[in-house]
Amino acid sequence: MAVIHFIFILITSHSFKCFAQQWIDTGDMINARVDHVATVLKDGKVLVTGGTNDRILADAEIYDPSTGRWKSTENMFYPRQCHAVSLLTDGKVLVSGGVSPAFLNTSELYDSDTGTWTITGQMNNPRFFHTSTLLKSGKVLIVGGKTDIGVDVNTAELYDPKTGMWTMTGHMNQARSYHTASILLNGKVLITGGYTFAPLDSAELYDPVTETWTTARSMDYARSEHAAVVLTNGKVIVTGGYGYGYVKTAELYTSETDTWATTNPMNILRTHHTASALSNGNVLVTGGYYNTEGLRSAEVYDLSTDTWITIDSMNHGRFRHQASVLLNGTILITGGFNGGSLSSAELYSSS
Ligand SMILES: *[C@@H]1O[C@H](CO)[C@@H](O)[C@H](O)[C@H]1NC(C)=O
Ligand SMILES: *[C@@H]1O[C@H](CO)[C@@H](O)[C@H](O)[C@H]1NC(C)=O
Repeated sequence: MAVIHFIFILITSHSFKCFAQQWIDTGDMINARVDHVATVLKDGKVLVTGGTNDRILADAEIYDPSTGRWKSTENMFYPRQCHAVSLLTDGKVLVSGGVSPAFLNTSELYDSDTGTWTITGQMNNPRFFHTSTLLKSGKVLIVGGKTDIGVDVNTAELYDPKTGMWTMTGHMNQARSYHTASILLNGKVLITGGYTFAPLDSAELYDPVTETWTTARSMDYARSEHAAVVLTNGKVIVTGGYGYGYVKTAELYTSETDTWATTNPMNILRTHHTASALSNGNVLVTGGYYNTEGLRSAEVYDLSTDTWITIDSMNHGRFRHQASVLLNGTILITGGFNGGSLSSAELYSSS
């Protein structure tokens, strides 16, 4: 089976050569990082926090798109990997939980004007592999994750930037980690898949007004370690991941009808990859893990034809990396793993 896939991959990547796009290496990060988080700040610079190489990092650094260079900023109070991050409405950055190697319930705020961190409230649960979503109210919703090795939770908490406090909110119907969270145009939050004892096909919706969860239509495939992104048309696409084997398709969620539509398959199986919305409405998927390797492969989902188009490969194979959409639509890829932690960063421009 693996051999057949491999041949198929070679043929398709060759035949789409004419659609080739450009990957350009930009400055290396100061630290090699895997399981870090990259966050685009209000001024368009990119803050990278934590992650791990031969140690878990408290280090943070900032990318300036106008120079292509990285600069250290103040360290976080705690080393963190597998933490979660949200940009707040006031431009500060909220970092929560992670592995330190203790499992953290602490959270901290980065002020990009002063370049400093301050400790803020403690979550009611330690969490890693959780999600963090900025709501329209300005509060942040933290969902699920693990509180201990092998212990997934269904709890959710809200952070209020006005008080710096965490409060419990409604519980999900299903405990999960390695899920995705996407804010819909109507302000509700869609949680998909993930893992607890087994990969999940279930999806749930959080209503910030009533603070309650409802079960959404299940996906066609169970997926964890997948990637989700909200498209410019308001639909949510979930891509790849690991379910009962690698999942080759993507699925599109329409919230008005609460339905999923499975797309044509991607050209390459992948998990621990990234998915980013391009300004032309399409979706860029990069790298990921398959067959013991970090992938260089990248492909674009063309919404109008429901096809995945193989584009030029990245300069570096990687998984558990990050993709950030810069203010001008260029995608910045940072770090990840491929035999070792990576400090390299590269840019993709669709124009
Ligand atoms: C967008 O920003 C990136 C990073 O600064 C730069 O490399 C790229 O040329 C810019 N693209 C456009 C279309 O301006
Ligand atoms: C956070 O964790 C610390 C250390 O385990 C514990 O002492 C503290 O009570 C926890 N905080 C909350 C709000 O549960």
